Amino acid sequence: MIAFFQPKLLAGRRVLITAGPTFEAIDPVRGITNLSSGKMGFAIARAAQEAGAQVTLVAGPVHLPTPRHVQRIDVRSAQQMHDAVLPQAAAHDVFVATAAVADWRPATLAEHKIKKDGTQRVPSFEMTENPDILAAVARLPDRPYCVGFAAESQDLARHAREKLVRKNVPLVVGNLGPATFGRDDNTLLLVDAHGEREIATADKLGLARELVREIATRL
Ligand code: CTP
Ligand code: CA
Repeated sequence: MIAFFQPKLLAGRRVLITAGPTFEAIDPVRGITNLSSGKMGFAIARAAQEAGAQVTLVAGPVHLPTPRHVQRIDVRSAQQMHDAVLPQAAAHDVFVATAAVADWRPATLAEHKIKKDGTQRVPSFEMTENPDILAAVARLPDRPYCVGFAAESQDLARHAREKLVRKNVPLVVGNLGPATFGRDDNTLLLVDAHGEREIATADKLGLARELVREIATRL
């Protein structure tokens, strides 16, 4: 009901969002993942749709309902998320990267379940780096307006600004984790070329709506 009375700040815009963790397989029954709940990305998808946008949500493995009228693409690994995002990024006006993409994956995927060999020897895994999805989208010639997220455990503003520069994106949204993982509320720090602005602690949908307003004014 509230949505009905909101101005449609993103009418006619296409918004692409990544959300949730990724899962990097070690063997058919095991893998490496992280504690991202996906709630922030799903809240932004809902808020953007309410603001009139056509929304595509690329989600890692999470158990969350799809927001109404949002096109959802489910993926598992960082590479799959990259391959789902890149071909369609330029067709969108805004890209919001909330996903906690695994930075590394096991260099090889064991075809069968890795078994104890009876010698008490433990396996060790060589890792290889995953593609940086946000940086790749930001390098596209006709890139959308790119928004990065930075979940940090300390020095939030410094790390967020470093990511703004390193990934060459106009806006980075910082938050302190892992305190926020899975929680329904949060505090955000918006970092751009002009400075910093805090969005005070609120539930994730309230923060998402405020962030959508901020993005809309920047387009
Ligand atoms: N990101 C991405 N693809 C990756 C890694 C990160 O798209 N392979 C995006 C995230 O979705 C987020 C932003 O980049 O929007 C920052 O992610 P973060 O993990 O904080 O940055 P990293 O560059 O991976 O640095 P570090 O983990 O060392 O802090
Ligand atoms: Ca990372």
